[in-house]
Amino acid sequence: MAEDTPAKYGGEPIREDVLGYGSQSITEAEKSAVLDALEGDYITRGPTVEEFEERVAELIGVDHAVATTSGTTALHLAGRAAGFEEGDEVITTPLTFVSTAHAATYSGATPVFADIDPHRRTLDPEAVREQITDDTAGLIPMHYGGHPADIEGLLNIADEHDLTVIWDACHGFGGTWRGEPLGAQRDMAMFSFHPVKNITTGEGGMVVTDDDEIARRLRRLRSFDMDYEPDGHESEPWYQVVKGVGYNYNVTDIQAALGLAQLNRLGEFKERRDEIIAQYDEALDGVLGIRTPPEPIESDPMYHLYAIEVREEFGYDREEFVNAMHAENIGVQVHYVPLHYHPFFQEKFGYERGMFPEAEHVYDGLVSLPLYTEMNDDDIEDVLNAVRRLQAYHA
Ligand SMILES: Cc1ncc(COP(=O)(O)O)c(C=O)c1O
Repeated sequence: MAEDTPAKYGGEPIREDVLGYGSQSITEAEKSAVLDALEGDYITRGPTVEEFEERVAELIGVDHAVATTSGTTALHLAGRAAGFEEGDEVITTPLTFVSTAHAATYSGATPVFADIDPHRRTLDPEAVREQITDDTAGLIPMHYGGHPADIEGLLNIADEHDLTVIWDACHGFGGTWRGEPLGAQRDMAMFSFHPVKNITTGEGGMVVTDDDEIARRLRRLRSFDMDYEPDGHESEPWYQVVKGVGYNYNVTDIQAALGLAQLNRLGEFKERRDEIIAQYDEALDGVLGIRTPPEPIESDPMYHLYAIEVREEFGYDREEFVNAMHAENIGVQVHYVPLHYHPFFQEKFGYERGMFPEAEHVYDGLVSLPLYTEMNDDDIEDVLNAVRRLQAYHA
């Protein structure tokens, strides 16, 4: 078998071990921060969580940051704090992770999908406009891959119709739009600190906002919807009052210590991601049948994903491409199966395939190449050699 035969068609894989699409970077600094936290008085939510929240609020340039246990629980709290309820419609993108839509469904509201702008790969303001009804209560745009959504266009619609906006900025931590940090836009933004994201706390999330009342609601819902200092607390110091159905989404000082150590490395993380992206762009721009990620518009994103679109002209459809890359031990991934393809959204809300042609066309080609700080130049070459090998084999 020729040396350059792709592994899927009988050759030897490009590498022996699997290169994942995303992973954390942990150094001695993170390890010692976590050990210090374990020596502290609190290992649950304590002063280190407060410090982590203050650092994130300062970085984003907002008044409040509320840490929670995941991006998913951040979306849950944000939807509740927005006051979404049964009968409300909340417009979001179908090309996202399921939790984005759950900021509506957890509160009994209906997620209403609108098609995407194929350049930004996220909500198209014109498509959003078509979905507005008297019941529309909010928007949940998502910054796909870290590339900002059309923030101005979407905020204009929110203004016209008095809608609450929750920005799903899970992919965009550390990026800026018009010089302003992604996440600083009203009414709320949220992040995930899952290990594949731009920084990690193991599991974790954060909601940020300038709105004092929203922040108060977020904090209380995070902790059992309990008022810990109600009237009468002075004379009966044990007295606490439950105001509604809250949760225990408290994060620990251990996670916050990890998060603080990761924040110290944010610049280093961005620089390395940008270098990897530049190498991918240089090799893949102009390759027939491959669309590299869209040019950023008025922004300096910190990309979570390097998502290309693979088309037939490359010689392989997406399924063949992904399986051939996996055979080379290159762990590419697809973000995401559109939400309206899932039985849950079809059965509960009547969605069907075919309803959002732009999202479906983009999805049909999407493949995320590995992108994370600890990839070395050999790893990048392995990814590119695997692509070149497939290209040459077809030619
Ligand atoms: C766009 C988006 N929203 C929400 C989430 C949920 O975040 P988490 O995994 O921290 O719950 C993710 C992460 O997978 C995501 O990518």
